[in-house]
Amino acid sequence: MSEKRRRILVTSALPYANGPLHLGHMLEYIQTDIWARFQRMRGHECHYVCAEDAHGTPIMLKARQEGVEPEELIARFADSHRRDFDEFGVGFDRYYTTHSTENRELAETIYRRLDEGGYIDRRSIRQAYDEQEGMFLPDRFIRGECPRCGAGDQYGDSCEACGATYSPAELRNAVSVISGTTPVERESEHFFFRLGDFEDMLREWTGAGRGGSPYLQEAVSAKLNEWFEAGLQDWDISRDAPYFGFEIPGAPGKYFYVWLDAPIGYMAGFRKLCEETEGLEFDDFWQAGVEDETEVYHFIGKDIIYFHALFWPAMLHGANFRTPSAVFAHGFLTVDGQKMSKSRGTFIQARTWLEHLDAEYLRYYFAAKLGSGVDDIDLSLDDFINRVNSDLVGKLVNIASRSAGFIRKKFDNRLGPEMDPDGQTLYRELCEAAEPIAADYEQREYARLVRRVMELADRVNQYVSDKAPWTLAKDADREAEVQAICTAALNHFRTLAGYLRPVLPRLAEGAEHFLNIAPQDWDSLTEPLLHHEIRKFKPLITRVEREKVDAMLADSKQDLAEKPATENDEKEDKTVEDLAPEITIDDFAKVDLRVARVEQAEYVEGADKLLRLELDLGGARRQVFAGIRKVYDPEQLQGRLVVMVANLKPRKMRFGVSEGMVLCAGGDDGGLFLLSPDSGAEPGMKIS
Ligand code: 2FM
Ligand code: ZN
Repeated sequence: MSEKRRRILVTSALPYANGPLHLGHMLEYIQTDIWARFQRMRGHECHYVCAEDAHGTPIMLKARQEGVEPEELIARFADSHRRDFDEFGVGFDRYYTTHSTENRELAETIYRRLDEGGYIDRRSIRQAYDEQEGMFLPDRFIRGECPRCGAGDQYGDSCEACGATYSPAELRNAVSVISGTTPVERESEHFFFRLGDFEDMLREWTGAGRGGSPYLQEAVSAKLNEWFEAGLQDWDISRDAPYFGFEIPGAPGKYFYVWLDAPIGYMAGFRKLCEETEGLEFDDFWQAGVEDETEVYHFIGKDIIYFHALFWPAMLHGANFRTPSAVFAHGFLTVDGQKMSKSRGTFIQARTWLEHLDAEYLRYYFAAKLGSGVDDIDLSLDDFINRVNSDLVGKLVNIASRSAGFIRKKFDNRLGPEMDPDGQTLYRELCEAAEPIAADYEQREYARLVRRVMELADRVNQYVSDKAPWTLAKDADREAEVQAICTAALNHFRTLAGYLRPVLPRLAEGAEHFLNIAPQDWDSLTEPLLHHEIRKFKPLITRVEREKVDAMLADSKQDLAEKPATENDEKEDKTVEDLAPEITIDDFAKVDLRVARVEQAEYVEGADKLLRLELDLGGARRQVFAGIRKVYDPEQLQGRLVVMVANLKPRKMRFGVSEGMVLCAGGDDGGLFLLSPDSGAEPGMKIS
């Protein structure tokens, strides 16, 4: 390799510190880790940095719910994330946290420079406020009926039923997810980053509408063009207390929005690494103007392109730092062709995978599917089993297992002085693939290089079958030939396993141990191994068993009770069917459930989903507004026994106060069914 030694910093998106990692996360970390390992194998300096994304409302609330300090929650998830990364072979050079001194300082510096540059506006906005909790509500913490189609239980910013987008103020019968009360509107001063001031710079950087750019994939550039057409909006970078994050200098009670300091966490992690590494200088990678000297790459999911391809380069540019060398977006992970789903057991946590299956299987399968584009990647479980068994066990490792025995038994574990002529020719072909394969890695065309390697493995297996050393070995005169064939085959194996080293670091390590060689770099893969003593061959990977995959899926279903990470308020994953977190019997005992009789039921004017019920609780009377108009006529209900939550905090609604709740089974699309006790029950009876 004659290329000059590049200096590279690479990052993956920071996982939120409030939930376990799942296979969707692992797709990105594995993709990045493969790239970083490849760069190091090529002899480049490559630092891979990541961190916990520690701030924001969901983390603050989850900590509060658990009765712990946010720092404790973050530390717990950081530990579990670290363990998962480690076992999946994701080898960060530094894994840090956004809740760190380095990140605070960098966030303050960037903010100050942007402010001094005139890129921060202050203005008051009206927002939903939860009076009971004393806090402003992010859109995702407000639910209500869609103003367009009337679907119930929709988020404050968009409707999943009809796709409408709106402001929380437009939502009908809005309630705070935190307290269940009706939010009010309140004014507060916010800080805005004037993204529009960077339009020229961003158009240039993104190449949007100009045929692309070296910094972004084509599809991403095209998408950005749509956003430019729609107009760049100022970005609200502040949040009011209570908030878990960094207070904005000179603005008591105002905090940086989590998405402001999250990408700065890339810099902070690297700064920490520099503090710990002799000779590594932060400025070499981050000060303005170093773009030709050092390279910075961000691997991200396609859902966070806006933050990385618009806000982030603009912030860096405006604060006089360098801009990234490129942002690489990938698609989402589907399992068996569908979004990951808890009820199908395909919402697979990283830990659950590790409990049943080898991490390298997944690394290989993802590599075999990944290209440089933003298409979704499907983990098809049947295909996965076939691929791993046929490629890794049946093709790659098979080369070693069918040749090693002869070298051990007949040649005292020594490779011969030469390869046989056909083996030598094939070896040259394998070596010629080194640069095309390297180019594939560089361009993140992993699927293509895996195909190349497996085609070569097929050729090698064909070569061994044609030469049939097992037949020759019966003839004492042909021993030298046997050694030359097996020497060739083991050299082939060494090169091919080496080509896959960034994908399969543990398998490659096992191969290196068996071949008794040092950790391989790219150049050494094409230097033949002759006159060389190897070790006894031990199986380097075992077959995937279907039962283990099934057990992993069954366990994933059991994980149902554990809610997935409540992610960021702007992009929470709404695709999984959640079950509430586990509660104790004491928690349950707090709910006072009673039998009640419907004394009166009537329509509520202006509310197309509600009925007003008057309930007899065995003496006491309660008024309840229930969202059951779609399925029940008032007359049907008169006199009927129902089950109600009697100690629910009264809730002020537009039509009056609701003093409890009647229990129903089902939901929006699966029908709605009022619960009733068996006959004989009396109003006021306690339910336990
Ligand atoms: O979307 C997410 O999961 C965010 N935690 C990613 C942050 S990436 C970066 F900007 F920090
Ligand atoms: Zn709607």
